[in-house]
Amino acid sequence: MKDSASQPPVVIQRADYRPPAWLVPDIALDFLLDLSATQVTATLDVERNPAGDGGPLRLNGDGLVAQSVAVDGEPHSAWRMEGDDLVVDLPGEAHQVTIETTIDPTANTQLSGLYASGGLLCTQCEAEGFRRITFFPDRPDVLSRYTVTLTADKAAFPVLLSNGNPMDSGEEEDGTHWAIWHDPWPKPSYLFALVAGDLVATRGTFTTMSGREVELAIWVRAGDETRTGHAMRALIASMAWDEKVYGREYDLDLFNIVAVSDFNAGAMENKGLNIFNTRYILADPETATDGDYDGVEGVVAHEYFHNWSGNRVTCRDWFQLSLKEGFTVLRDQQFSADMGSAPVKRIEDVRVLRSAQFPEDSGPLAHPIRPNSYQEISNFYTATVYNKGAEVIRMMTVLAGSERFRAGTDLYFERHDGEAATCEDFVKAIEDGAGLDLAQFRRWYEQAGTPQVDVAMTHDAASGSVTLAFKQTVPPTPGQPVKQPMVIPLRTALFDRASGAHGGEHLIVLNEAAQTFTFDGFAQAPVLSLNRGFSAPVAINAPQSVDDLVFLAAHDDDAFARYEAMQQLVVQHLVAAVEDRLDDAARAAGRAAIAGALGAILADPALDDLMRGELVMLPGEAYLAEQLNPVDPARVHAEREALKAWLGTELGDAWRALHDRCSAVPYGLDAAARGARKLKTQALVYLAAADPAQTALRAKAQYDAADNMTDRQGALMVLCGLDGPQREAALADFHARFADNRLVIDKWFSLQAGSLHPKALDHVRALAQHPDFTLTNPNRVRALYMAFAANPQAFHAADGAGYALIADLILALDPINGNVAARFVAPLGRWRRIEPQRAALMRAALERIAAAPRLSRDVREQVSKSLE
Ligand code: ARG
Ligand code: ZN
Repeated sequence: MKDSASQPPVVIQRADYRPPAWLVPDIALDFLLDLSATQVTATLDVERNPAGDGGPLRLNGDGLVAQSVAVDGEPHSAWRMEGDDLVVDLPGEAHQVTIETTIDPTANTQLSGLYASGGLLCTQCEAEGFRRITFFPDRPDVLSRYTVTLTADKAAFPVLLSNGNPMDSGEEEDGTHWAIWHDPWPKPSYLFALVAGDLVATRGTFTTMSGREVELAIWVRAGDETRTGHAMRALIASMAWDEKVYGREYDLDLFNIVAVSDFNAGAMENKGLNIFNTRYILADPETATDGDYDGVEGVVAHEYFHNWSGNRVTCRDWFQLSLKEGFTVLRDQQFSADMGSAPVKRIEDVRVLRSAQFPEDSGPLAHPIRPNSYQEISNFYTATVYNKGAEVIRMMTVLAGSERFRAGTDLYFERHDGEAATCEDFVKAIEDGAGLDLAQFRRWYEQAGTPQVDVAMTHDAASGSVTLAFKQTVPPTPGQPVKQPMVIPLRTALFDRASGAHGGEHLIVLNEAAQTFTFDGFAQAPVLSLNRGFSAPVAINAPQSVDDLVFLAAHDDDAFARYEAMQQLVVQHLVAAVEDRLDDAARAAGRAAIAGALGAILADPALDDLMRGELVMLPGEAYLAEQLNPVDPARVHAEREALKAWLGTELGDAWRALHDRCSAVPYGLDAAARGARKLKTQALVYLAAADPAQTALRAKAQYDAADNMTDRQGALMVLCGLDGPQREAALADFHARFADNRLVIDKWFSLQAGSLHPKALDHVRALAQHPDFTLTNPNRVRALYMAFAANPQAFHAADGAGYALIADLILALDPINGNVAARFVAPLGRWRRIEPQRAALMRAALERIAAAPRLSRDVREQVSKSLE
């Protein structure tokens, strides 16, 4: 708790970057580990930075007290505290500075720095957690070689891990033991890690492309080691993939992963010692869904890929966060696409972008992928920096092609290995290595907001020419009222209606506010397939006829475009319905067209079930809400549910047949079995909307027969939205069956909080009092309240009770964990785009938070920006 309402917030500006006055080439860290009083002795070899301003040595701290300060081995008193920082005036060029601090890991409920998690000690230092351990220039452009000595009670902490390689270890007669670790690779403090505790390892090996043997270990609590196989396979596959696709080889003899239950984020790429949230390591068929398996694979890969994109080349300052995160998300997306179905992966990634990033870009927290200012950097680990950041680099791959893009990344790694680099360094390397001109493209790093592209097609039958007229606008965002045109690469195809084929794809690259492109040789007006593969992260407004969308949904040879046509067909219909633009005849015609397209997809023998599962999914309410301003969330919900129920009835036989067919497929991790499981639950979703009573029986049968979590969770999800004995029986069984598995109990909370049940809000209130609920475990908090905040019907209750519930949560959680509390502000911050009555209630909830006497910097920033 650093801020009180009376102090004006400190705003850090990107333009204010200055190189550090002192560098720290080497650091020795000595830990006497204890759950409530850990002693830390840090010995820093400091050198004046020739590029610095000649100022004093500034060592950041956060709530630390220096017990002693020595310079060159002598006690030193010429230092002062400036706020939380320790500042030492030092003459000359080089010194050794030794500082002692004592910290209480058990009191560290923010889970930043060194903290206790169920008897274990572990760290999370990104972005600014290291300063909660010891005084240090805690900024990513200070790179040091670390030597770490860990001493602890051997019975309580039998395993002692840190970055790099183990150098030495031993035991003392007093029951303590010690281990020395050395990491030869200079790294910023945010990549430091230690773990001490009672853990067991699953081991593996990997032989790198130059023939080095790397030892792999995944450390978990005893009993969990049966659930590490998928993570280990993913790790080995990632190591091989990064060699093959990016030419990147691992650079230590050891790679450790530790899974912990209490973790703010998904995982952390600490050099040679990744620390993970258990939810992205542990998986077996009984307890993890297919989605969970994908999550494990993707996050294991993401953290491994950071070894190059993040660790070997790190960020100069935190404004450059997308340098490592955007690039690494792109790399993990490419990896997962190669491991499974590439088109399905692309659709999933776009769905995440549209449901999480588009709303961010159109709201009060909008920021460019390279922000210009922040109050609390933890608030910038966003869908914009991560997912839009990945899309921006993906566009470079579209412009350059994969070979030239690879030449660009090779040059980037070669130029900047061992450095703290900037986004500009990355763009320049791609420009030089791939031979692209990215001058105007750089606006993607500068301008926030989702570009809106309007397109109109005209056809001249006499000349056979087709003209596409484009207009692009980038909407105003906070601090950026006026925008410049972007470079927007659109993969495009023009389909011949008669043959159902097209004569090859075109890459249309927009770079002006208005542009036209003409194509010849079309006796008939073609069907336009635009932004294929979602080649640019923009919103397209191309008023297309229902016939054209039905045509594309059935015939487009680009899988994403096919999905997109199906989505658009539904979006156009639902938006018109919500805006009251449909008379009975238009409503019936719209529904019939959707049912026709959906029926064709259900019957198409050429489709695999995984892809079919994407095509039958209705657009989500968050994405639908983006099409309406202001939006009445209740109307969106009601219209979408009504359509779902109608489709459930109209195609009832087909859904039942599908459910029967898929239920007969035995469990397996192959695409066919996964596809069957995905469709099985989707069929239930439509049937439940049409016929709740009969579907409760069908869902309960799926639940009872389930030999895997995908089927079990899918059935329980559907049952949670219904009333009746099957719901209660399944919930009770699920809790009893998995009472000792925290990750599965998280699902039990989420499914109820996210359910379609009209009393979901009451259920959440009751669940918050359940003995298994706690505010101190971020997974549990997210399981209950994120699921709730993403449940439009419950969160947007007309009387504002949902908003009050989230405001209460934020106020209760903030003193415990401000980082996680701040994540819940965004749902309330969308008030400006919501209909006036709810908007006023959302605003009131934000104002109540803002009026609290003490708020973390994290929550303060998000709330004040949301009210501006
Ligand atoms: N670098 C980590 C990752 O993307 C995430 C760190 C999260 N830190 C935070 N302050 N939210 O893999
Ligand atoms: Zn990352």
